[in-house]
Amino acid sequence: MLCFRVLALLISLHAAYAVADPRINYLLHCSGCHLPNGESAPPEVPSLRDQLGAIASSSAGRDYLARVPGAAQTPLSDSELAEVLNWVLREFNAQSLPESFVPLTASEVAQSRQNVLVDPEGYREQLWPASDDVYGDRFIQPYRE
Ligand code: HEC
Repeated sequence: MLCFRVLALLISLHAAYAVADPRINYLLHCSGCHLPNGESAPPEVPSLRDQLGAIASSSAGRDYLARVPGAAQTPLSDSELAEVLNWVLREFNAQSLPESFVPLTASEVAQSRQNVLVDPEGYREQLWPASDDVYGDRFIQPYRE
């Protein structure tokens, strides 16, 4: 009986950990295209490293992050997606992330992901004109609001 309880506890801990940990959700739902370290495969799949901090510093950019199809249409819940995006920003974009950055919330992400971008690349280019560089190695210009 005790053995069963210990086992049940371990299983529930494991389940809670697996559901809650954004790193694991990133590995399960994003790394297939963006690779475990976020490098992705530019130019087809843009890198998630170093450049997203500048984007996340504007409200349009915060919105954009949850509207790209790969993020918007993931089976993750709104709060799980918010955590994954926050994790990506902190883990891969610490240098470009403003100190004043306020983490994305589940309700913010819920609203954004309803408007899945049909032309993410075109939209990005419109908002961040240096976007030719985005799919390469160089940094984009900060967003002009
Ligand atoms: C099936 C492949 C695929 C998966 C899975 C995927 N993405 Fe993407 N992602 C892309 C592609 C391709 C783009 C470029 C925009 C487009 O064409 O959709 C992109 C763009 C992005 C961008 C915008 C980057 C920029 O610099 O503009 C973010 C942020 C992003 N993805 C996050 C995620 C997150 C978070 C997940 C997991 C929840 C994820 N993606 C899963 C393929 C994928």
